[in-house]
Amino acid sequence: MDKLIVTGGEKLKGKVKVSGSKNAALPILMSSLLNGKTSVFNNVPDVWDVDTTLRLIRKIGGQAERKEDGSVVIDTEEVNHLEAPYELVKTMRASVLALGPLLARFNQAKVSLPGGCAIGDRPVDQHLKGMKELGAEIKIEHGYIKARAPRRLKGARIVFDVPTVGGTENVLMAAVLADGISVMQNCAREPEISDLANALNAMGAKISGIGTSELVIEGVSELNEVTYDVIPDRIVSGTLIVAAAITGGDVILEGVRTDHMTSTMDKLAEMGVLMEEVNGGLRIRRPGALIPTDITTGPYPGFPTDMQAQIMALMSVTDGQSVVNEKIFENRFMHVSELQRMGANIQLKGHAAFIKGVDKLSATKVMATDLRASACLVLAGLVAEGTTEISRIYHLDRGYERLGAQLRSLGANIERVSE
Ligand code: EPZ
Repeated sequence: MDKLIVTGGEKLKGKVKVSGSKNAALPILMSSLLNGKTSVFNNVPDVWDVDTTLRLIRKIGGQAERKEDGSVVIDTEEVNHLEAPYELVKTMRASVLALGPLLARFNQAKVSLPGGCAIGDRPVDQHLKGMKELGAEIKIEHGYIKARAPRRLKGARIVFDVPTVGGTENVLMAAVLADGISVMQNCAREPEISDLANALNAMGAKISGIGTSELVIEGVSELNEVTYDVIPDRIVSGTLIVAAAITGGDVILEGVRTDHMTSTMDKLAEMGVLMEEVNGGLRIRRPGALIPTDITTGPYPGFPTDMQAQIMALMSVTDGQSVVNEKIFENRFMHVSELQRMGANIQLKGHAAFIKGVDKLSATKVMATDLRASACLVLAGLVAEGTTEISRIYHLDRGYERLGAQLRSLGANIERVSE
């Protein structure tokens, strides 16, 4: 198992390009199961969760590979095995996104129930609720969701109890091939969902209301071949902005979609981070001292829970008290105890973390517990006194395309070694 060795103290300088969005790519790759033809996707990040998705598509009979030019080419004509097995789903919860497309195209699907997760309970009741509204019969047996539709799914009105990203994506993919009109209300509005809806429309689907909490879908009987470019990753962008800010560096990010990042950039600007659009990208500097602020995570366009750990690393070296309220996941403070081991002054009370900034973090051996927690520890290591060793970085590889190498290209003293 690899670990990252980070020696703090370097100010990051230079240019770096933001990779494609993991959380847009995963549902978009799954949507290729709907057309039974060839799909070509560009700007798909080279991360583990993408590899797992391609393996799943191959496992159920499709062809899926990444080409020399980085594009991903998928052909789902021969898909015939309608089961997403536990072995794959346990490594990546997003495998549950195979349910909607398989059910819509084949009127049946068997998908392992995603088990527990480090950051919270994460049920899929809303996914199943939507499938039932569209006419599917759902049984949970031996840890599997067994879904069957006696005939073609039928358009329906679906109101989500909570604005769920995965639930909205899964039900949307089922509704595009349903017979008639579907109206989905209280949908999540994340840019990744809009990207999926745009990719589906590029395949010939009829979706309107994209970007709002109400999606209207006129079902079609068939979808076409598609070539589609995935949006840049707003969470990777946010992580790299924090890396530049925490080191007091001067960095240009290429390929950022700032219109997807308003709440993140607003909070970072409040903390004294200067972000300017320049030709060729977004320039990040931090002219003065960092300023404490408070955040509460929420559904888009609220502050993303996927940036909570990274901004906490920044707050831990910001003079004064900042407060973080985590309102999406019940257990997303696993990084706090590791930051405390690095000398951060953080008190937890229920869903809230109270961070009193310290002058200096001190390096030590720490352990990554989930994807964003691992990014947080890398950021803390960039400014800690001494050398930090971060183990279990396989978590990082799930959603960051060679983050260590990117930071090294900006002057960070960071090395990947096998344990
Ligand atoms: C997506 O997860 C992202 N994953 C997560 O990113 C992200 O943290 C999350 O959305 C919130 O923004 C992908 O896109 C692959 P949800 P998802 O369904 O779809 C509750 C990362 O770091 N809920 O919007 O699983 C749920 O418990 C990952 O890249 C139900 O109650 O999130 C949670 O409290 C981590 N019933 C809330 O809704 C349901 O059926 C939001 O979950 C579904 C969800």
